Amino acid sequence: MPGNNVQQQRSETKSMANADIVNLILEDHRPLKKLITILKNTDKDSSEREEAFAEFAPLLVTHAKPEEQVLYTYMKNNEELREEGFEGDVEHQLADQLLEEIMRTDDEDLWSARVKVLAELVEHHIEEEESELLPDFKKNSEPAERLAMGQQFLMLKTKLLEQGGTDAAHESDLDKPKH
Ligand SMILES: [Fe+2]
Ligand SMILES: [Fe+2]
Repeated sequence: MPGNNVQQQRSETKSMANADIVNLILEDHRPLKKLITILKNTDKDSSEREEAFAEFAPLLVTHAKPEEQVLYTYMKNNEELREEGFEGDVEHQLADQLLEEIMRTDDEDLWSARVKVLAELVEHHIEEEESELLPDFKKNSEPAERLAMGQQFLMLKTKLLEQGGTDAAHESDLDKPKH
């Protein structure tokens, strides 16, 4: 039936638009932001924050690595976007360092302090990405490029997920915080 074809075409167009790397990144940010509100709140039960952190760490890494490899690499090769791409890299490096330190932290109060700082850092980073970096990237790229980058982003992310998360965030360590 012709009606069905039109409908099918429409939904294909829609899912292709969703595979734009900008949309994929915004989708990834959503669950991270939710967990950040728990991680920032030092009044919360420590077990609730530990659970949130165990969820947060692999989500962060499987988002950040493809973002660096696909988005930031593109930006660093573009005159207009180069500095912002580097800024993203630098902030990711800081988050990585903190993440590793948190994994090795036994002292409960130090763990809590480091987790809070990481959450604030990532929150600020995501806010800037959404309000400045992504709009600037959109202005300086073509829809077809963003779709191709979306495919790459998904491929890299799937690969990382298949490897069980990340190098930095060892699953077993995350399940049982050390303090
Ligand atoms: Fe991001
Ligand atoms: Fe980022």
